[in-house]
Amino acid sequence: MSDDATIEHGPLRSRAYHTQFINGKLVVGDWDHRNLIERFNKLNINPGDTVLDAGCRDGFFSQYFARRGGVVTAMDIADTVYRQELQAEVGFEFVRMNILELPEQDRKWDVVFCSDVLCHMRDPLGGLLALRHACAREAYFVTDGRESLGRCCIVQPGAIRDKKAFYPFVWAPAFFRQMLQWAGFRAVERIDQMVMRGNVYAPRKVFLFKAIPGEARVKDISDILEWKKYKKENGL
Ligand SMILES: C[S@@+](CC[C@H](N)C(=O)[O-])C[C@H]1O[C@@H](n2cnc3c(N)ncnc32)[C@H](O)[C@@H]1O
Repeated sequence: MSDDATIEHGPLRSRAYHTQFINGKLVVGDWDHRNLIERFNKLNINPGDTVLDAGCRDGFFSQYFARRGGVVTAMDIADTVYRQELQAEVGFEFVRMNILELPEQDRKWDVVFCSDVLCHMRDPLGGLLALRHACAREAYFVTDGRESLGRCCIVQPGAIRDKKAFYPFVWAPAFFRQMLQWAGFRAVERIDQMVMRGNVYAPRKVFLFKAIPGEARVKDISDILEWKKYKKENGL
């Protein structure tokens, strides 16, 4: 198990992460993504497509993809309270796993979806390499990004070093695009931007990227000098 397992992802304020209906009852969680669902109609998911929801938490997006006819694998490194109930109601597979372990499985999904996860990983580029490996047709990423950062990636002060890494990375959309390309994704498109709203957090602007898996451009992230430089500068 990688170091990521030791990172705290921050305490939930509510018992649930996602606000959603489970067995006809509204469960109120920290984040209410119901307003995003309409925007995700543009994701190219057809009945019978296999879909990986990497870092699914309570499985809010997994159930939406399953309702669209996707054959969904919800995957997360951690357990949650409500996922099993949702899984029983909608029907999708759950795998408890670290994204970084995906290449060992050597399994591929038509569509890979990953929302708000990479910025919580100690090694986001390693995460992207693993997700590219698992992606047969196309991938979608929802990520924070501050346009004011230019082409930068920063680590919030003290976040990783004291292992209370709740929100370590903040990057510019341009930097995220660059990471996707380093990891071997091509035809990278920023297809939307939206606002994630929660009950206890301030709303955040996020970006939706689409990318197609290509040939790996690196074998290892240590091949990438620019990434090395960011790691060094940020004491990683
Ligand atoms: C901020 S939540 C996002 C949940 C959901 N994708 C969404 O957008 O609402 C991040 C999730 O990623 C999971 N996670 C973090 N690092 C992971 C890793 N290396 N492998 C698998 N899951 C991971 C966490 O356990 C958590 O459930």
